[in-house]
Formats: sequence, structure tokens, C-alpha cells
Amino acid sequence: MSSSDNQPSSPYGVSDLTYNDYLKVPELLSLQQLLSQPPHHDEMLFIVIHQAYELWFRLILHELEKSIKLMRAQHVLQAHHFLHRVVTIMRLLVQQIHVLETMTAADFLKFRDRLEPASGFQSLQFREIEFIVGVRDARYIDNFAQREREKSALERRLREPSLRDAYYDLLRTLDFDIPADVSTATLEQDEAARTRLLEALKQIYQDPIEQAPLYMLSESLVDLDQLLSLWRYHHVLVVERIIGNRRGTGGSSGAAYLRTTLEKRAFPYLWQVRTWLEA
Ligand code: HEM
Repeated sequence: MSSSDNQPSSPYGVSDLTYNDYLKVPELLSLQQLLSQPPHHDEMLFIVIHQAYELWFRLILHELEKSIKLMRAQHVLQAHHFLHRVVTIMRLLVQQIHVLETMTAADFLKFRDRLEPASGFQSLQFREIEFIVGVRDARYIDNFAQREREKSALERRLREPSLRDAYYDLLRTLDFDIPADVSTATLEQDEAARTRLLEALKQIYQDPIEQAPLYMLSESLVDLDQLLSLWRYHHVLVVERIIGNRRGTGGSSGAAYLRTTLEKRAFPYLWQVRTWLEA
């Protein structure tokens, strides 16, 4: 029987490609493998939410790489276009964590011990996102010491220019007076360099209309910093609500450790510049 007998004809020609084949739905649906015995109802929720995060992390890395390339080619509005996509995904991810609040603390305890020592500490892609934006703490690579592929992926991220490097390089190319070393550690010690940087950023922030493309790009970077912080904050509240002050399965102090990460920022001077603006 020809396909025209029982199906509308495809504008793309005859093909037997289906939705499920293209998206590998059967493969995707075979990946939720519960460890609890007998299977605990809520473990499915726990697995699906983490897998959904990892899929979105994959797309975020893909878009950030693109945005960095575009900044390096001085395509400011195009770089902003892809960053705006990341920001929109991050808004979703901040909300998504709350689905876990529909699981009771008592229910989680019924399968939590099965997960040990697996932990969010081992999310390679989360750490890659931190490293690619410019929040870089090489000590986290130790969590992957036994995993050669993950370890080298993170080491590669450390060698490659971050979003933060790409942004300041772009400003230099556009003749803004940006100090050679813009690492927070250096700038916090060097007041003259810090002032130079803030004066340069002030040119963008004092006149957003005149500097519209750079202003939009800069504000997307601030959005990203803000949303990463909000994700951390929402995550720690969910953690506290579900496990209280228990230690993490990865060995940290749990909520107390997570609270120490809330202030991490890739673009602290884009936040500080507001204090420098004139009326
Ligand atoms: C029942 C829900 C959850 C609990 C109780 C929980 C608990 C924790 C704890 C205690 C830590 C600290 C590390 C450790 O000692 O293990 C941690 C880290 C982490 N979790 Fe979760 N988590 C939950 C859900 C999630 C979800 C849905 C994600 C989504 C990706 C996630 C991603 C992470 C990441 C990336 C880290 C590392 C954060 C950092 O080092 O800055 N967690 N989690």
C-alpha cells in the first residue's frame, strides 16, 4: 500500500521517519531505572527531574559556546540572541526544582540511602556551566578524580576562554579601556585597575540607549549571574525542606555547604558599576 492511501502526503517527500525514531523516545524512556526495592513511587520523579536538568544543561552549554564564538567575532547582537535563550531556559530551571517539593521528606528517606555516594557534586555539566561562564574553582575537579573523561572535560573548560573572558576581550576590541587581568582575585587587590574597569563599564551603563547592543549583552550576563544565584537559592531551600540539616550524599555538610555558594558571580563588576553611575 502506498503512503498516500492512508496518510496525508509529506511536504518533505516520502520518508518513514517517525517522531519516536527521530527523537529516540523509546531509548529515552528506557533510561529511568529505579534502584529502590520494591520500587518506590517517588524515585521516578527524582530520576526524571535530574535527567530533565541534565538535558537542559546540555543545551545551555551548546548555546554558551555559540555565544562565546559570536562575541569573539564581534557580533554583539547575535551573541545576545543566544544568551537570551540561555536566560529563558534558566528561568524555567529555577522553577523546575519546586516540583520536588511535592515529595515528602519521609518518602525521600525511604530510598535516599540507595543513592549514596552519588551526588549533585558529580554533575559534570553543572560544573562545566560554572567554568564556561567564568566561575572557576579548580578544586571541584577532585570530585572527578577517578573519572578520566569527566576530569579532562573540566580541564579543557579551564583552558578555554570563558564567557567572562570573551566579554572583556570584546570590549577591548571595541576600544574600551579594560585592564589586562580582569580576574576578581587581582582586581580586588588592585584599586587602580578596578577603577579603570568600572569607568569603562560606566560608559555602557550611563547611556543605555547610545550603547544599546552592548547594554543588552551586558544585562543578559547579569541576568545569567542572577538566575544562577536564584537556582542555588531555590535548590538549597528545597534541600533544607527535604533533608533538613543532614549531610549530603556527596559528603558535604549539606545545606550549610550550599549556602556558601550563593554569592558566586561571574560578573561582579557588572553589578558594582551601578554604584558608580551619576544622576
Ligand atoms: C531531593 C532533592 C535534592 C536534594 C536533597 C539535594 C541535595 C544536595 C546536597 C546535600 C548537595 C551538596 C553536595 C553533597 O554533599 O551531596 C547538593 C549539590 C548539588 N545538587 Fe542537589 N539535591 C536535590 C536535588 C537536585 C536537583 C533536582 C538537581 C538538578 C540538577 C541538583 C543538582 C545539584 C548540583 C549541581 C549540586 C552541586 C552544587 C554546588 O556544588 O554548587 N540537586 N544537592
